Amino acid sequence: MAEPHLRAARASDLPAVAHVFLACWRGPYAAFLPRRLAPRHDEASALALWGPRLEPTPHGGLVVAELSGSLVGVALVLPEASYLASLYVDPAVHGRGVGRLLFTQAASVCRGTAADRMTWWVFADNRAGRDFYERLGAAPTGRMQAQEEFGLPEAEYAVDLAR
Ligand SMILES: CC(C)(COP(=O)(O)OP(=O)(O)OC[C@H]1O[C@@H](n2cnc3c(N)ncnc32)[C@H](O)[C@@H]1OP(=O)(O)O)[C@@H](O)C(=O)NCCC(=O)NCCS
Repeated sequence: MAEPHLRAARASDLPAVAHVFLACWRGPYAAFLPRRLAPRHDEASALALWGPRLEPTPHGGLVVAELSGSLVGVALVLPEASYLASLYVDPAVHGRGVGRLLFTQAASVCRGTAADRMTWWVFADNRAGRDFYERLGAAPTGRMQAQEEFGLPEAEYAVDLAR
């Protein structure tokens, strides 16, 4: 079976990155988000959301995963804040190790800074996402917030970078 590999994102990846995001939005996210939010993302909004994220940044930025020549996952890491801003894997390849690879790379980028932990936010109702992170050794910090765009509760997670 083919193994996933990582590379830095390129501007030409935008349609594929938007596709992965939308597949998660319409798949696993639809299982726990309120139904009223379903129309909030479509092809156009996904392209608008991810376009600026593909702009080159001095450090970190967007990493993509490929499997058998197709882009199947994306992670956005902000090493200056030791912060994982996004992690999405195409549902068609869930369970193939792509999420683990992207998460490990994000932690590795943050490990190169002075930070002793990497943090991020997860929708509180995203049980599958939370279980994935906990499987990889992360834990909730106990902090909660209302997500900026939709006001839904999010739980903060952290992983110890010294591990
Ligand atoms: C969560 C997500 C990133 C996991 O990606 P993935 O490629 O399917 O995960 P992997 O195959 O790398 O799995 C890594 C480990 O986590 C475990 N895991 C994955 N999903 C899991 C789940 N829902 N519940 C429990 N464990 C899970 C796997 O069994 C594996 O453990 P193992 O290697 O010890 O067997 C992916 O399902 C996804 O993109 N979901 C939608 C978006 C999302 O929720 N993102 C995270 C919140 S921001």
